[in-house]
Amino acid sequence: MAEVYDSIDQLPEGLLDSCNETPLPTTLLMCPPTYFDVVDVKNPHMEGSLGRVNFDLADRQWQEVRDAFIRCGARVETLEPLENCEDMVFCANQTLAGLDVEGQRLCLLSQMKHPSRQREVPAFADWFAARGYQVEHLPGEELFEGSGDAVWHPGRSLIWGGHGFRTDPAVYEAVSDYFAAPVLRLKLHSDHFYHLDTSFCAINERTAMIYPPAFDEQGLGLIRAVFSDVIEATEHEALRGFACNATAIGGRCVVIQRGNARAVAQLRERGLEVHEVDTSEFMKSGGSVFCMKMYVF
Ligand code: ARG
Repeated sequence: MAEVYDSIDQLPEGLLDSCNETPLPTTLLMCPPTYFDVVDVKNPHMEGSLGRVNFDLADRQWQEVRDAFIRCGARVETLEPLENCEDMVFCANQTLAGLDVEGQRLCLLSQMKHPSRQREVPAFADWFAARGYQVEHLPGEELFEGSGDAVWHPGRSLIWGGHGFRTDPAVYEAVSDYFAAPVLRLKLHSDHFYHLDTSFCAINERTAMIYPPAFDEQGLGLIRAVFSDVIEATEHEALRGFACNATAIGGRCVVIQRGNARAVAQLRERGLEVHEVDTSEFMKSGGSVFCMKMYVF
C-alpha cells in the first residue's frame, strides 16, 4: 500500500524510527564525460553555455570527483558512455536503485523528460540487471528522473520525492509501492532548482543541507520535522556554487563544489570530513557532484 505524505499534519508519529534501517551505500556508479557537451537548454543553468565546455578540463574534473569519492572510502564503478548522449555523465537521473523490505536489490527506470536523455536509460537498465538487480518500469507514462528527484533518507527505507519540473507527483504512489517505503513529497517551484538534488542534500540520518527558498512551507515543514539538524545554504552557494548538490558518503564524508566556504565551515563544525572539488564544466549543464554518480546498494 502506497504511503505518500505532503505535509506534517499527514505524518504518522515516529515515522522515521518506524522505517527499516538500510545500509549506507559505499559503491558509486559513474559515467565518464567522453561525449559530454552543452548542446541545448534543458535547464536555466545551460543558457549561455552552449559550445562553451572545455572538454579537457571536464575530463580532469571528472577524475578529480572520482578520486575524491575514492578518498572518502567509496568503490567507484564505471559505465561505458554512449555517443550522442551528451548528458549521460549525470548518472543520478536514469534510475532509482535501492533495496526493498526483504533487502532485495531493485532498480526503477526513469521516464525522462528530454528525448536525448531517454536514450541513456537502457544502458543503465542493462548495467543494473547484470549486477543482479530486479529492473522495473513505472506503470504509467508520467515523468520520473530517478535519484535526481527521488533521494533516499540516509540509513532508512524512506524516500524524499521532489516534483514540479522533471518528475510528476503522481509517480510517487508507484515508487512507494515498488520499494515498500514511504515517500515524503517536496514541491519544487524555482526553475534553477529543477531537480531535488539541486536544493537538498541528505547527509546522514539526522543532518541535511538545503536551500530553503526552493521549497514551499509544507515541504520545509516536512524537512524540519524529519531531520533534526538542517544546514541552510545561502543563495549564492546554492545557485552559483551548487552547494546542495554535494554527495555524502557513509554519513561522515562530503564531496562538494569548491568555493562554498560557509557551507563547508558548517559541515566541518559537525565533524564531517569535507573534500572540495571543481565541477565548473558540469555546472554549465546544471549539475555538480551529486548528479555525477548513482548510489549502488
Ligand atoms: N543537463 C542535465 C539536464 O538538464 C543536467 C542534469 C543534472 N542532474 C541532476 N541530478 N541535477 O538534464
